[in-house]
Amino acid sequence: MKIIVLQILVITLIGLTGSLSYGQRKSPFFEDRVTFDTFPQESLDILNSELDAGETLKLTDYLDNPKLGKRLSCVDIGIPFGSCSQLDDENSQSSSSSTPFTYSGFFTVNQTYDINLFYWFFEAQNGNKDAPILIFFQGGPGASSLFSLFVETGPYRILSNLTMVPANVTWNSEFHMMYIDNPVGTGFSYTTSDDGYSNNEVEIAQNLYNLLTQFYQIYPEFSDNDLYLTGESYAGKYVPALAYYIYEQNQLKNTFINLVGVAIGDGLVDPATQVTQYANLCYYTGLCDLVQQDTMLMYQEKIIFNIQEQNWMEANNLFTDLINGPPDYFQNITGNPNYYDIRRSVEPSYGGNYVAFVNSSAIRQLIHVGNNYFQNNNNVYLHLQEDIPKSVIQYVPTLIENYKVLFYNGQFDFIVGVSLTETMIRTIQWSGIQPFILTNRIIWKIPSDNIDVAGYVRQYQNLTQIVVRDAGHIAPFDQPERCLDMITRFVNNLPYPTGSSSSSSSN
Ligand SMILES: *[C@@H]1O[C@H](CO)[C@@H](O)[C@H](O)[C@H]1NC(C)=O
Ligand SMILES: *[C@@H]1O[C@H](CO)[C@@H](O)[C@H](O)[C@H]1NC(C)=O
Ligand SMILES: *[C@@H]1O[C@H](CO)[C@@H](O)[C@H](O)[C@H]1NC(C)=O
Ligand SMILES: *[C@@H]1O[C@H](CO)[C@@H](O)[C@H](O)[C@H]1NC(C)=O
Ligand SMILES: *[C@@H]1O[C@H](CO)[C@@H](O)[C@H](O)[C@H]1NC(C)=O
Ligand SMILES: *[C@@H]1O[C@H](CO)[C@@H](O)[C@H](O)[C@H]1NC(C)=O
Repeated sequence: MKIIVLQILVITLIGLTGSLSYGQRKSPFFEDRVTFDTFPQESLDILNSELDAGETLKLTDYLDNPKLGKRLSCVDIGIPFGSCSQLDDENSQSSSSSTPFTYSGFFTVNQTYDINLFYWFFEAQNGNKDAPILIFFQGGPGASSLFSLFVETGPYRILSNLTMVPANVTWNSEFHMMYIDNPVGTGFSYTTSDDGYSNNEVEIAQNLYNLLTQFYQIYPEFSDNDLYLTGESYAGKYVPALAYYIYEQNQLKNTFINLVGVAIGDGLVDPATQVTQYANLCYYTGLCDLVQQDTMLMYQEKIIFNIQEQNWMEANNLFTDLINGPPDYFQNITGNPNYYDIRRSVEPSYGGNYVAFVNSSAIRQLIHVGNNYFQNNNNVYLHLQEDIPKSVIQYVPTLIENYKVLFYNGQFDFIVGVSLTETMIRTIQWSGIQPFILTNRIIWKIPSDNIDVAGYVRQYQNLTQIVVRDAGHIAPFDQPERCLDMITRFVNNLPYPTGSSSSSSSN
């Protein structure tokens, strides 16, 4: 008798812990599971010495006085950006017309639910005010775009001791860069209403669109600049959804937004076609044997079945069981691989802890966040679980017919590996897809490196597909120069060089 009671107790306990850890699981695309260097407490104490971080700046309050709003949003961060006092008198403003500045704050994008999105905008460092604007969206759902700012594409890096230094390679050299914490609940973006969280891509696109229309009111000088939406991972949903929303609003002759292109890195766009590749990718990279490949195939078929049946929650749960360690199937059979890069079994450090840095009172004050805090808020994921298995591929043909579209992948990504993107592209219902498939991939080398191959490029009309060699999911971190060359040529409509053969013939 006693033994049976004990067994029941044990089973109940296991059941409980199981469901607890399940509730804490996050999306496979959540990039904040990444690791950073540990930092000495003193460095954080210095940044927190002034504990009151001041006012939260909402630019929505300044739509009727944009000049004041712009001035208040200027971030006095120092080199390479101009000192904000230069904005105060018109004379010095015109004499320093090519000085880049940086601006940040919040836009209230939905008054009913008090939804406030944080943005940080950096003018191009080369002083070209007419430069294209690139917005970079992080994935997740729920990962802060400040990750890309400090780890991948932005003007600064954070050292182990929480010191900020200029990045050696940044997309900000020639382009205006904007980082938005999206969706609401991510990073510094917040809502005071439980009903404010986004449940689908249309709500997300609406919020972002409302941010952009207000942005152009506060900074009207940028409304004619070319706009590019870029991002990675789960931003494979946000970018097409927002681009299509802008397209629709432009057709309705509402505020015209000068969208010119989109660039999606290692993006989840169409889960039903993309999940079909996991078993093969696992087997052909040596991470699975044939039996394990079969088990993965079984998972895939169940996920696809549930997507077809529109059992979104079940599809997402199976997706999570297949690949979202721990304890998922992929992790169980492969050990502790980093599914962002199959060459690694543990994640690298992505540098100094940018979250500790930006969440300090000194930096919150500097960037007008005030007494709000940086959030790793799982509500964002919980509200989007049913969105994860859904597709946005229906938007892509219209985008290709009206804008430039780039899909790129790091060669060694697993979670959204090259073959996932390749397969997805082939199902785009666009008239040019057959000629695109028949177009030869070219070998791409960047000018600064004529020995190593940077990757492979296929282009037909407005569609470009690129594989970046020796990179994983966090491609611009792994290969900063290659990714900078990639985005610069895409934006500037320049051909991708194939490298000259002269060096090899002279040897
Ligand atoms: C605010 O959010 C609600 C719920 O998503 C939506 O119905 C409404 O249209 C939004 N308002 C604006 C201005 O976007
Ligand atoms: C942080 O580390 C860098 C590089 O080691 C060093 O130059 C700098 O002085 C350090 N800053 C502080 C505040 O300790
Ligand atoms: C920039 O490059 C130098 C020289 O390679 C290196 O020592 C330094 O750590 C790099 N800085 C950053 C922020 O990556
Ligand atoms: C992975 O392994 C853990 C621990 O053995 C187990 O609880 C879990 O059910 C496994 N997950 C899958 C999807 O097989
Ligand atoms: C930011 O700081 C606040 C206050 O110290 C803290 O409660 C919160 O957990 C921090 N956020 C993160 C993501 O560490
Ligand atoms: C390519 O995009 C441009 C806008 O950048 C558009 O005018 C053109 O029609 C598109 N071309 C094709 C062949 O779809």
